[in-house]
Amino acid sequence: MRLVEVLRERKAGPVPIWLMRQAGRYLAEYRALRAKAGSFLNLCYAPKLAAEVTLQPVRRFGFDAAILFSDILVVPHALGQELAFLEGEGPRLAPIADEEALAGLEEEPLLRRLEPVLETVAEVRAALDRETALIGFCGAPWTVSTYMVAGCGTPDQAPARLWAYRDPDSFNRLIDILVESSSRYLNAQIEAGADAVQLFDTWAGNLPTAEFKRWCIEPTRRIVEAVRAEHPGIPVIAFPRGACDGYLQMAQAVAPEAIGIDTAFPLDKAREELQPKTVVQGNLDPLALVAGGDALKAGVERIMETLADGPFIFNLGHGIVPETPPEHVAELVKLVRENPSNY
Ligand code: CP3
Repeated sequence: MRLVEVLRERKAGPVPIWLMRQAGRYLAEYRALRAKAGSFLNLCYAPKLAAEVTLQPVRRFGFDAAILFSDILVVPHALGQELAFLEGEGPRLAPIADEEALAGLEEEPLLRRLEPVLETVAEVRAALDRETALIGFCGAPWTVSTYMVAGCGTPDQAPARLWAYRDPDSFNRLIDILVESSSRYLNAQIEAGADAVQLFDTWAGNLPTAEFKRWCIEPTRRIVEAVRAEHPGIPVIAFPRGACDGYLQMAQAVAPEAIGIDTAFPLDKAREELQPKTVVQGNLDPLALVAGGDALKAGVERIMETLADGPFIFNLGHGIVPETPPEHVAELVKLVRENPSNY
């Protein structure tokens, strides 16, 4: 398994490729199965359909990894928080605004409620060939908490940030619950067949250094420790999107097997400061993939020239957007595989 070898041995060589949100609305075959499932959440909890959706982009494009089809918000849902995805509007949860609301979260039934997702992992692993890795995932506690507290996506994550400033001790209880739940969930995904796991910290970029350390680095470090304690050989990829200089702190304090860099992260900095410490994953602009043509070629070339000599996994800097033409994805895979740096 090329992807797992790169992660475990930190070795350069042919660059593996997979893409965040590689399963999704840009694919007609996804839209057909989602319509059959009735809703996005039904699809997440229907193991046969979710496994099929996970496999669709792997079959179509020959990626080096599949990523479990699910969502970061199934964890709060399994903790008993009401969740719905509104068409065209995104997630809606019953907001948890204060310490009292924390008492309503139910930690014990977590894995039982997530059983359909674990079943999806097992189905996918059984269907994939041995060369293709299966990546499990969860949201990092900070990012998940921002949705739990606001009840929806927000431009600046103000509700969670305000709670964390006004009453850090009670906010920390929410983070503790998420550290514990996420650790159990990732370990269960690994037991069901995941070959590596990724922690999505989509909103890591909005915090001052001290808060970044407390709410992003520390919880991630504890989860990585809990995964290593039970599954020492399983690589962890951290994705603290937008963290700027926080990336280096993450590499030093958490030492995940790989770090996913966002679109804005400078390539030379990734090469000089991150690659000596960890495998780098990223970071083509998802909109260069929508545009295709010269923008796509130039983006791939710059990334490969700078990073392909070191341990590297090709990916986007954030998830694929629904407007992406599938032909551009096929072109991207070809450009990466045929790039001269990719010996
Ligand atoms: O990468 C993959 O292919 C695996 C599947 C995956 C999904 N969401 C499927 C999904 C993963 C890894 C996620 C992670 C996720 N979910 C994140 C972190 C990464 C990121 O993109 O920032 C976040 C913040 C969420 C929460 C979430 N889920 C939002 C805000 C939305 C609505 C926005 C949107 O794109 O519609 C979702 C819905 C969602 N998750 C979809 C998919 C395929 C679209 C749902 C649909 O089919 O209508």
